[in-house]
Amino acid sequence: MNENQRLESSQAKADNSTDKKSAKDYSKYFETVFVPPSLKDARKRGKEEVKYHDDFSISEEFRGMGEGRKFYIRTYGCQMNEHDTEVMAGIFMALGYEPTDKTDDADVILLNTCAIRENAENKVFGELGHLKGLKKERPDLLLGVCGCMSQEESVVNKILKTYQHVDMIFGTHNIHRLPNILNDAYMSKEMVVEVWSKEGDVIENLPKVRRGNIKAWVNIMYGCDKFCTYCIVPFTRGKERSRRPEDIIQEVRQLAADGYQEVTLLGQNVNSYGKDIEDIQYGLGDLLNDIRKIGIPRVRFTTSHPWDFDDRLIEVLAKGGNLMPHIHLPVQSGSTEVLKIMGRKYTREEYLELVRKIKAAIPNVALTTDIIVGYPNETDEQFEETMTLYEEVGYELAYTFIYSPREGTPAAKMQDNVPLDVKKARLQRLNNLVNELSAKAMKTYVNQIVEVLVEGESKNNPDILAGYTDKNKLVNFKGPKTAIGKIVKVKINDAKTWSLNGEMVEESAEEAVSLAEVN
Ligand code: 5AD
Ligand code: SF4
Repeated sequence: MNENQRLESSQAKADNSTDKKSAKDYSKYFETVFVPPSLKDARKRGKEEVKYHDDFSISEEFRGMGEGRKFYIRTYGCQMNEHDTEVMAGIFMALGYEPTDKTDDADVILLNTCAIRENAENKVFGELGHLKGLKKERPDLLLGVCGCMSQEESVVNKILKTYQHVDMIFGTHNIHRLPNILNDAYMSKEMVVEVWSKEGDVIENLPKVRRGNIKAWVNIMYGCDKFCTYCIVPFTRGKERSRRPEDIIQEVRQLAADGYQEVTLLGQNVNSYGKDIEDIQYGLGDLLNDIRKIGIPRVRFTTSHPWDFDDRLIEVLAKGGNLMPHIHLPVQSGSTEVLKIMGRKYTREEYLELVRKIKAAIPNVALTTDIIVGYPNETDEQFEETMTLYEEVGYELAYTFIYSPREGTPAAKMQDNVPLDVKKARLQRLNNLVNELSAKAMKTYVNQIVEVLVEGESKNNPDILAGYTDKNKLVNFKGPKTAIGKIVKVKINDAKTWSLNGEMVEESAEEAVSLAEVN
């Protein structure tokens, strides 16, 4: 939906608001902006060209809107959402708002939500319940819901019906409209709903306020066209659209110049990067090959889909340097039959062949994965195939989930004969294996010296520092505070299931410089 359609649609909804026949028509609550989401529209993939914009600006009428006001954003879900929050924080600051880390202090509270599983959504509804009291105490407070849940019709209807203290709902395609949405919310007593169910554009020059100055997220593409049968993301995030390489490279160069030590390239399906750019043949391998020449000490990327993981990418990753030897490669299931029903487009054997190629090219690689258990009608044998695949690959870590039906996805319509307690038992068995292999991988580090990017004090003990190795292992260690923000050498003394303990042996701050001129 474009700007004109938005205006037409909100007009149409305003006209509809007199129609009181339908019990489900909540539009009577609104007189200002009412553009609700449509999963049907979000499912569509047209041939329309992606529009690239670099004309974002804060219009004169909104300048100073935030003076004397504070904002608070709570983020749920993945790194993409974390990064969207950084963009929204940038817009708030450009409007003159100040950040706060307390809801009690805030004049605007946003919940940036995740729709991936039902429990992610339940947390948000719980929080909306809690915030009702605050809103009662301070009616001037603006409360907004944004992110992936906002893109779902059922969620928006539920908020309209049950959480009428919410002031604004806006979608993942409407972030750049935040100034207008805030303005509408201040001007009106009605709930402002603006959710475009479009395929999506790319807006280059949105402001950002990054959390921290050590690690940075960099979007390389948006959206997803894979339509795995369980997944809501293609509906909430629009079609695959890549940023231009020159824009990404420029952003990474700037981050390196600003002293950042690590970038993570982000996309829902980063291996499709560049497929939609028509004037050049340029994929994720090419992008990483260019980025590895930039003097930023650590480069990561997430999330990969095995289907698009090509030889060029493997060849580039094998060059090492600042490309970290860790690949998160979601498999979802070890059974070819289940993979087929999931719409994953690869078999168990093809996945294992990809793993073989990756390990041959990058012998020290650490592989991690995502797995869903209890897919509709998953048999014991099919689940056992997930267990054997897990051991065969030798993953160092996995995020494991019980399948959660998402309205609008094909899997949600499937009959399911697997009882919940069977699903839970399978998850438990898988988790035991995950823990066992993680502990085994951790043990190999004892008495080794590893390089750790130090992020700060450990959460539980301010005398201990914490950071991550090249393979993304958490290390807690004794060392001076001057090490924060640097890559230092740490000798590992002790291994736990999820983390390592050690002592700093050397502050190797030259790391960044020595990498600066890699060819
Ligand atoms: N139910 C359970 N897990 C899911 N995931 C995605 N959709 C669902 C769902 N409907 C998991 C996948 C994905 C990870 C981010 O979340 O494993 O890789
Ligand atoms: Fe959650 Fe997926 Fe949206 Fe990320 S993209 S916030 S994981 S639903």
